[in-house]
Amino acid sequence: MPMLQVQLGGQRNYPIVIQPGGLDQLGAWAQKRVAGRTAFIITHPRLFRLYGPRAADSLKKSHFTVHTHCVPEGEKTKSLQQLESIIGVMLKKRMDRRTVIVALGGGVVGDLSGLVAATFMRGVDFIQVPTTLLAQVDSSVGGKVAVNHALGKNMIGAFYQPRLVLIDPAVLATLSARQFRAGLAEVIKSAVIADKVFFTYLEKNMAKILQKQMPVLTETIRRTCSIKANVVSQDEKEHGLRAILNYGHTLGHALEAYHHYRTYLHGEAVAIGMVAAALLAHMEGMGDKKIVLRQKKLIYQAGLPIQGKNESVEKLLNYMKVDKKSQEGKLNFVLTPQIGHARISNKLTPFSVRRAINCVVKGFAAEDI
Ligand code: GLY
Repeated sequence: MPMLQVQLGGQRNYPIVIQPGGLDQLGAWAQKRVAGRTAFIITHPRLFRLYGPRAADSLKKSHFTVHTHCVPEGEKTKSLQQLESIIGVMLKKRMDRRTVIVALGGGVVGDLSGLVAATFMRGVDFIQVPTTLLAQVDSSVGGKVAVNHALGKNMIGAFYQPRLVLIDPAVLATLSARQFRAGLAEVIKSAVIADKVFFTYLEKNMAKILQKQMPVLTETIRRTCSIKANVVSQDEKEHGLRAILNYGHTLGHALEAYHHYRTYLHGEAVAIGMVAAALLAHMEGMGDKKIVLRQKKLIYQAGLPIQGKNESVEKLLNYMKVDKKSQEGKLNFVLTPQIGHARISNKLTPFSVRRAINCVVKGFAAEDI
């Protein structure tokens, strides 16, 4: 069974367990990782029907008292109102500092539950049990927890690490094809920024991954989590290195915001953002044309979009300037001069940024570059 560690020092280290069928081992793992024996599962109704009883039974078998709370499905749930309401439920049930929060869900449930854990009585233990590919390979690892503000996504949050991440790749069987492909954007991102051997593995195995063939899927999740664990272990609070995980996100976040989060899934917007970043690196003289084309081809093979919907470039640039990744009005781009290497640049010429985005929102042919 693959197991990775996020190394933050002493008591703060935590394992990422990746095991098909691992949901039934939740109790046994939780017992090893937390002191309290009251578990509060936060999930949403559809997931509760699919996986709630298995998660609860496993915890009960390991002598946990289990409470479950369902929140509505969807991004709107990441709100201060939900946070307050969940904390109200916990107080009414007389939960205390030894309560363990179990986030059973995708990024929305994980981010919200993590912030509940960070703030309830100034912080209680929490466990991530991610159920989407995106959450399994990205949002459940690394402790970024948040809710949204009316003026911006993830604007109220914290770095608050889980005690355990338990990934059961078998639960992806019930994930829609579109959501699954969106998760693959973060997989591809990780390979591009940090591991060229893994990038080649993805090129060879994309068909098997899309069929959710278990050994290949498990290995894909393991390698992606390993990259994330390594980056987070070196730079937990994004003072430097961790920002490379934002590859494709500068334009990606702008595309999501431009369409009020209704048109692209996060991974779809990141996919287009990666094509733009690859092109930008090439236009800045940093990367060969082949690097752009390999990324574009793999993103396409994963069934992800490689071009935008003719959005206004100026409007997109305005969204980029208010993003939390921009600093003092300067745009930060993660660029990949080679597959497997990333660097951060805030010194790009406005001309090349405009040109790259323009090409990508309109769609460009190989001969354009
Ligand atoms: N998703 C980027 C990060 O966790 O830093």
